Amino acid sequence: MTLRQRSLDDLPPIVFGEIPKVDAALVIGRIGEHQGQLFDSEQGDDFDGFSSQRKSEYASGRRVAHEALKLLSGKPAAVTREGRMPEWPAGYRGSISHSREFAIAMVASTRRCQAIGLDVVQKNAVSAKVGARIMLAEELLPPWGLIDTDWRAIVFGAKESVYKAVHPEIGEFLEFHDVEIKMNESDRSFTAATVEDGPSTAVVRAGIGFVSDFEDHWLTLFLV
Ligand SMILES: CC(C)(COP(=O)(O)OP(=O)(O)OC[C@H]1O[C@@H](n2cnc3c(N)ncnc32)[C@H](O)[C@@H]1OP(=O)(O)O)[C@@H](O)C(=O)NCCC(=O)NCCS
Repeated sequence: MTLRQRSLDDLPPIVFGEIPKVDAALVIGRIGEHQGQLFDSEQGDDFDGFSSQRKSEYASGRRVAHEALKLLSGKPAAVTREGRMPEWPAGYRGSISHSREFAIAMVASTRRCQAIGLDVVQKNAVSAKVGARIMLAEELLPPWGLIDTDWRAIVFGAKESVYKAVHPEIGEFLEFHDVEIKMNESDRSFTAATVEDGPSTAVVRAGIGFVSDFEDHWLTLFLV
């Protein structure tokens, strides 16, 4: 197994635990003015209309995605998009996420990985009101003695990660109440299941998720 990792801008390494045998690269960096690093094909007609914060977040996401592709294949490549959904170069799958502070991307070879979803959530970002909207009754009790605020952010990130992995593969739109997250307390991995059988059920069941505590954020990763 090879997980190549880089933390840019003096950030510490990410620790995700025992992730499965994928040929993958994971890169994190700070949000900054990286618009100059975009490929022409990544800009699209709507780019000029983005706010300056959105331009920075978008470009910083592409910057870490380029770096991850470089770690895997030796050279960066454009990650275009269909609507908001990223389109990866042939032979690769990946996922991008950003908070106001960090951008993170993971890319894997399609030989050993069907789908990837990644999310970064600031620890206090999910209010009790939002938590009530996104959590199922079965998810309300925090595991490992976590406080409610942390647990809400983890459930939010985990569900977004599942969605980002599965939606490009299956095309089904999943609401937050369509998916249940179950933590494995021994190693902070998680599994996910759809509440009702549907097009995404098998692929969601086949995946495994991971949680990492990173600089006042929770990182979540879902791999199929
Ligand atoms: C699109 C969505 C997943 C983005 O998540 P977010 O937390 O707002 O933002 P993040 O920074 O974490 O991720 C944004 C990145 O996700 C990627 N993305 C967007 N749509 C995507 C999709 N359908 N599939 C996979 N990745 C997607 C993009 O790379 C985007 O960044 P970019 O626009 O700068 O390229 C989210 O807004 C959304 O619409 N979710 C749908 C409902 C849902 O999550 N349900 C969960 C139930 S399982």
